[in-house]
Amino acid sequence: MNITLRQLRIFDAVARHLSFTQASEELHLTQPAVSMQVKQLEQAVGVPLFELVGKRVFLTEGGQEMQRYCRLIDQLLSEAAQVLEEMKELARGHLRITVVSTANYFVPRLWATLRTRHPSVSVSLDVTNRAGLIRALASNETDLIIMGQPPEDMDLVAQSFMPNPLVVIAPPSHPLCKMRGIPVERLRSETFLVREQGSGTRSLMERVFAEKGLDPATPIEMSSTEAIKQGVEAGLGLALLSVHTLDMELALKRLVVLKVQGFPVLRYWYIVHRAGKRLSAVAQAFKAFVLTETQGIVHVPKV
Ligand code: PGA
Repeated sequence: MNITLRQLRIFDAVARHLSFTQASEELHLTQPAVSMQVKQLEQAVGVPLFELVGKRVFLTEGGQEMQRYCRLIDQLLSEAAQVLEEMKELARGHLRITVVSTANYFVPRLWATLRTRHPSVSVSLDVTNRAGLIRALASNETDLIIMGQPPEDMDLVAQSFMPNPLVVIAPPSHPLCKMRGIPVERLRSETFLVREQGSGTRSLMERVFAEKGLDPATPIEMSSTEAIKQGVEAGLGLALLSVHTLDMELALKRLVVLKVQGFPVLRYWYIVHRAGKRLSAVAQAFKAFVLTETQGIVHVPKV
């Protein structure tokens, strides 16, 4: 059906007044212009909408149906206008955030604080590893991303907001726990628990170890930071992890940060989006909030 909103508005005015003259006065149009628009609408819908009986205008059965739909369309349009207005004012809105798995240890806390200020906004939080996140960026599936070092070969806007120290951890029973200034070479004979290929932590570890000339004994691969922490606690080996993932274990002394020379390795957390992306009001508010308030909310364990 090829009809326009303008035709519907004109139809609605005639239907309310049951008069072409009064409708044209209300709409500040000439009467022939009103008649022409109604005629075109009737042609488009294929049924007569008005009938003239003894000089009086009546709605046909089709006209009555059309009037009902006109009201519904009008209601929907005002609803849409209201929703969009509320979005501008942050009274409503939905945000899609994708975070690297390591960041899920603090991002929900950030969102919880923002939500107390804007209770009607909603979020979907997708947690994936670095490789998954780069795919989400490439396909523009997400509004904002929180990650470690952003890729250099994509056109991005990336701002750092918090240090991200990475440390070597061991179970409290490990003999190295008592040593200070542990030389990096001492790690050569240790087994490391490592994240899966595609993980940012994994690639950082490979790079740092290569720089330090380290190639530790056969690593054990696990695709979850939680599994790695459990494995280290159980004595399977050591691991290199972000301190943000270790808050509870360090507080409960279930894991220990080893005092290895050259560690912690300092990275930063970045909030990232594609260059040219039009951020919604919620996305802008979250970004500003992350950049200015994270460090007052997220506790970084001292290492
Ligand atoms: P990951 O990423 O969770 O994929 O290991 C962490 C990071 O890139 O810093």
